[in-house]
Amino acid sequence: MNKTLNIAVLPGDGIGTEITAQAVRVLRRLSEQGHFSLTLQEAPVGGAGYRASGHPLPESTLKLAKDANAILFGAVGDFSLDTLPRELRPEQAILGLRKELQLFANLRPAMIYPELAGASTLKPEVVSGLDIMIIRELTGDIYFGKPRGVRVLENGEREGFDTMVYRESEIVRIGHVAFQAAQKRNRRVCSVDKANVLETTQLWRDVMTELGKQYPDVELSHMYVDNAAMQLLKNPKQFDVMVTGNMFGDILSDEASMLTGSIGMLPSASLDANNKGLYEPIHGSAPDIAGKNLANPLATMLSAAMMLRYSFGLAQAADAIEAAVRKTLAAGYATGDIYREGCKRVGTVEMGDAVLAALG
Ligand code: IPM
Ligand code: MG
Repeated sequence: MNKTLNIAVLPGDGIGTEITAQAVRVLRRLSEQGHFSLTLQEAPVGGAGYRASGHPLPESTLKLAKDANAILFGAVGDFSLDTLPRELRPEQAILGLRKELQLFANLRPAMIYPELAGASTLKPEVVSGLDIMIIRELTGDIYFGKPRGVRVLENGEREGFDTMVYRESEIVRIGHVAFQAAQKRNRRVCSVDKANVLETTQLWRDVMTELGKQYPDVELSHMYVDNAAMQLLKNPKQFDVMVTGNMFGDILSDEASMLTGSIGMLPSASLDANNKGLYEPIHGSAPDIAGKNLANPLATMLSAAMMLRYSFGLAQAADAIEAAVRKTLAAGYATGDIYREGCKRVGTVEMGDAVLAALG
């Protein structure tokens, strides 16, 4: 009997609809080929959720996400809603899902396809062969710490404040994810912090060091975040697994994406303790190109591959997507973001067609 995958599809805003549609085509094709059976249920989220029912993460969408085995997520963000109170802004949808579903482990691989070595703004010799796994803690840190707000001081001046906070148990659980990921790769973990200034991250460093003793087969190093930002540009191939907190991980993963040629290429997985996951491209809703058939759907397809691998243990089907993407790139298909001279410039749907053709 075939495994039935019960997947919630949450396209969100901007290009989210277009890119998830292409990833869904890929999943359907694999299902037709007999890899698995598929139950897909779609729901609005982000700005679309707000427009549909007055909240970026409608109750019914949250329930669907909770009941599903995995979630395929597009992107959220809509400038026209940025004046809403913060709790109603589109971004709250993804933050709410991460928190509600306890998706604490965010895996953001940054690897380069040989065809795209020239698409990076860095020299090809600096980036070719790059293969980094950024592991970002996703449910703690200054993103969720309390108290937070804007208060009015006695002199009438306004003051904004947020709280950076990590519990030992939160650091331990993301640490295990990082060390275990490294065991399946090149056995090196670089933990990124700002222990020279911030108490929270001194604890982070101490806990990582203690935990590292349980993994004698993995080499642990520590790096301050400012230096890590620099090293990512100077010599990115020195890294295997990088593990860091929510905010530093947000920033470093965008930076790392540029090493690979385009943010439109990078998938991600956000996992709970049981490998239930939400899968999304790391890029945003790109309102400037939304609805124009310009967006690169590959990051979302590669996110679907991660879903098959991590949540469903379907390595063969995941490999099939990744191989089809490689084949499509090698054949010279390119959306605008990864266009190089001599390529065939295609739109979102045509890129989907090409990957489907490569899937056979
Ligand atoms: C990301 C995004 C989100 C974040 C936003 C949309 C809230 O930038 O997934 O990296 O900051 O985590
Ligand atoms: Mg980000």
